[in-house]
Amino acid sequence: MSNERNRVCPVELAGSLDNRLRRWLQDPQKILKPYIKEGMTVLDLGCGPGFFSIDLARLVGKSGRVIASDLQEGMLQKLRDKIQGTELDERITLHRCAVNKIGVLEDVDFVLAFYMVHEIPDQEGFLNEIKSILKSDGQLFIVEPPFHVSKTKFEEMVKKAKDAGFTPVERPRVLFSKTVILKKG
Ligand SMILES: C[S@@+](CC[C@H](N)C(=O)[O-])C[C@H]1O[C@@H](n2cnc3c(N)ncnc32)[C@H](O)[C@@H]1O
Repeated sequence: MSNERNRVCPVELAGSLDNRLRRWLQDPQKILKPYIKEGMTVLDLGCGPGFFSIDLARLVGKSGRVIASDLQEGMLQKLRDKIQGTELDERITLHRCAVNKIGVLEDVDFVLAFYMVHEIPDQEGFLNEIKSILKSDGQLFIVEPPFHVSKTKFEEMVKKAKDAGFTPVERPRVLFSKTVILKKG
């Protein structure tokens, strides 16, 4: 456990997670639009500086809500600075996680875990907690970076998700990514 924190993407790299090149390669609207409906409550886990949270908030509309959650206050502050004084401020709730406890108390329709599961020390516990937060017809979208996560490691993680009671339903194509969408049951 001692060096687990070293795996976490530092706040100093937040700029590499939110820029025009990434928006062009991994357009959040294109990636997420097929799965997000107006009025949904969405959890953006390991939201970082909010590259996906902001578009999620646009997609859920005025009647929906995004819980943007991260381990690091510095990441949450970057997102806070972006939305303060905008109409998205009311749709996005910032939430600080602990390393092995998400701690979100309400049920959600959709969970996005983009480039973050490989940073979690206890993936089994994490998947079980997501399962308890997701509504019965909810979905979990996991996206992992191929440069940090081998095919074998990714499939091991999918197996852990199956053991936790999830069923893979789709493997959407996202550039520079390994992906899976899982449903409960
Ligand atoms: C590589 S960044 C990805 C950020 C964002 N999802 C994106 O794709 O732009 C991984 C993020 O996960 C967060 N993270 C790592 N471990 C976490 C945990 N146990 N709970 C919540 N967030 C965590 C890090 O602080 C970091 O902001």
